[in-house]
Amino acid sequence: MPVIRHLYFHIPFCPKLCPYCSFYVETGSKNKTTAFLDALLREVELAKAGHDLRPQTIYFGGGTPSALTGEQLEYLLGGLRARLDFSGLTEWTFEVNPATVRAEKARLLKGAGVTRISLGVQSWDDALLKTLGRVHDAAQAEETFVTLRGAGFDNINIDLMFAVPGQSLTQWEATLAKTIALRPEHVSSYCLTYEEDTAYFRQLQLGTFRQDDERDATLFEMTMDALPAAGFAQYEISNYARPGRESAHNNAYWLGADYLGFGPSAFSTVCLRRWQALPDTAEYTRRILAGESVEHFVEELSPATRAGEIAAFAVRTREGIAGRDLARWPGMMEEFAALGFLEKRGDRVVLTRRGKMMADSVAEAFV
Ligand SMILES: C[S@@+](CC[C@H](N)C(=O)[O-])C[C@H]1O[C@@H](n2cnc3c(N)ncnc32)[C@H](O)[C@@H]1O
Ligand code: SF4
Repeated sequence: MPVIRHLYFHIPFCPKLCPYCSFYVETGSKNKTTAFLDALLREVELAKAGHDLRPQTIYFGGGTPSALTGEQLEYLLGGLRARLDFSGLTEWTFEVNPATVRAEKARLLKGAGVTRISLGVQSWDDALLKTLGRVHDAAQAEETFVTLRGAGFDNINIDLMFAVPGQSLTQWEATLAKTIALRPEHVSSYCLTYEEDTAYFRQLQLGTFRQDDERDATLFEMTMDALPAAGFAQYEISNYARPGRESAHNNAYWLGADYLGFGPSAFSTVCLRRWQALPDTAEYTRRILAGESVEHFVEELSPATRAGEIAAFAVRTREGIAGRDLARWPGMMEEFAALGFLEKRGDRVVLTRRGKMMADSVAEAFV
């Protein structure tokens, strides 16, 4: 039986749909039921029949896992504890939208054993938060950060987004400064992507929004300067951590470890098999509880495809790729080194600062 050490749970509920977001989420509460929680717990039991689950990392993402009520969280997290061996668990991350957590819920999460919080702040600028369609303002995000600290969380990530329509260099400078002043352990700084089937994508097509590559490159450079100067190492293109505070769960993905995902739309990869659960909460719940399969998409990866995926992740990390692994892609090092995008560091090959600006193109070359 394959041993699985990394588990992901997709909680598809959000207070409101953000216009840039393409994750599978729903905003009503009609499927936010005990039956859905039972389906998640049942899915864990089903997985145990075919896999040896020994979680080292658990990640609750979405969607907004913190959108569940206190009662629902107690039921779900207690149910998981009864079904899984937590003795080897070193990191349990919970994604939080600032509008959804007050002191009581923060204490509940801490008491349940959650070790790490990922707080979706996006910006400390109220005007930009409006542009992003967020349900919270900057003051509420700060209050939630303080509340989480007060509940005892000593490992908090702040999610930020740059390249937002209308965002100025000054606004980003202030957001970076405010983030640093709060002293989180980790910062994820994502470049906004215009995902198909989002309101933002349509506005880009209509010309209401315009991309400004030069400004976005400057915003990225500002991040790469400000966060390391404040003690955060850029250990992946979008991720910065204080020493020892890198996300073990994300590192496991990037190293190509096997993982199981639970919940609607969640992906799993075990050996060379990848599958995704149905992105439909009601149907997911019905099928799991009826003992039917929820597989929506299955793919058998070839070893070469999987190696390419892992290299594409690895090249975006601080450790880069082992020089000998690059032998699979003849000429790649020479081509990217000549462009000034890749360089050798000991027996590893890593992105240069210029290469980091082109990380997506370099990574794509491996897949
Ligand atoms: C599942 S959400 C985090 C938790 C919670 N749902 C929230 O938004 O506060 C994960 C993160 O992905 C990032 N994200 C979502 N859509 C994005 C997009 N189109 N481009 C770049 N980053 C995006 C945001 O920073 C967001 O915080
Ligand atoms: S960004 Fe977060 S809160 Fe907004 S729709 Fe996506 S998952 Fe939900």
